[in-house]
Amino acid sequence: MRILVADTFPEASLTELTELGNECFYRPDTGSEQLSEALSGCEVLVVRSTRVPAAVLDNTDTLRLVIRAGSGTNTIDRAAASRNGVHVCNVPGRNATAVAELAFALLLALDRQIADNVADLRAGRWDKRRYSRARGIHGRRVGVLGLGGIGLEFAARAAAFGTHVHAIENPERGQPASDRASAIGVEFVRNLDELARTCDVLSLHLPLTETTRNLVDRDLLAQVPPGAIILNTSRGELVDEDALIEAMETKGVRAGIDVFTAEPEASAGSIDSPLAGHPNVYGTHHIGASTEQAQQAVASEVVRMIDAFDAGTVLHC
Ligand code: MLT
Repeated sequence: MRILVADTFPEASLTELTELGNECFYRPDTGSEQLSEALSGCEVLVVRSTRVPAAVLDNTDTLRLVIRAGSGTNTIDRAAASRNGVHVCNVPGRNATAVAELAFALLLALDRQIADNVADLRAGRWDKRRYSRARGIHGRRVGVLGLGGIGLEFAARAAAFGTHVHAIENPERGQPASDRASAIGVEFVRNLDELARTCDVLSLHLPLTETTRNLVDRDLLAQVPPGAIILNTSRGELVDEDALIEAMETKGVRAGIDVFTAEPEASAGSIDSPLAGHPNVYGTHHIGASTEQAQQAVASEVVRMIDAFDAGTVLHC
């Protein structure tokens, strides 16, 4: 098969794809504007940050499979894919540990104001008193929204740090408490409002759907305790960003954010988001899944999926 890999991908996995008899076109800087041309004659497309809009899917007669090398498929126009007979698959679970690690790193960093600390010290300033007011993590109530693979990994880390972990069932799937959640000691609360009222850390681990869009809105933020921490390593659109800024300004809410609504598609450039420069935000560049371990695990699964597809089986659709 002819395969276009439109984002960075480990070399060993590209070699494997070629050894399996495929013809691989590795164009890691292909943006959505260049996709149609780059896709010419390809049956399989592998993307990570590159968006796949309807215009691309409506203009190809060879494409049969799009693989998003991550868990979310919200960057791909699924309706257009389905009307053009193109399968859209994701790679669930393989980057869960990496994303949970980043969410937890943001929590620790916010509590100890690590980024401000480092910036001050680098500038030659010594201000020990300013940095002596951390609340600490142990004993805090941490609310986890979404207990899929990433949410569970995050919950396990939070529990290991001695927090009380609370969660709601996935509002979308009515997901029942899993054995793993019980083993971690997760306590389920009745609804989102209760979670917001009682937890001073809220971590989002839900896919972007019409139900979850703006889930963290003005009403919900009105209920979180002053000084609460919101962690978003899922999708920017889960949060009403204006409402979050308001909560930061009126009640000292702080946020660890890896994902933004106005996220650039290209790997380098600039970001136009009021959250990125806000002093109450520790923001990162949508790098939750960006560890060598995670990217290798995702790539190995992509190779397995393409091989299976060649043999007539569609995995993870
Ligand atoms: C995901 O959907 O798992 C992440 O967005 C993937 C990524 O950034 O690589």
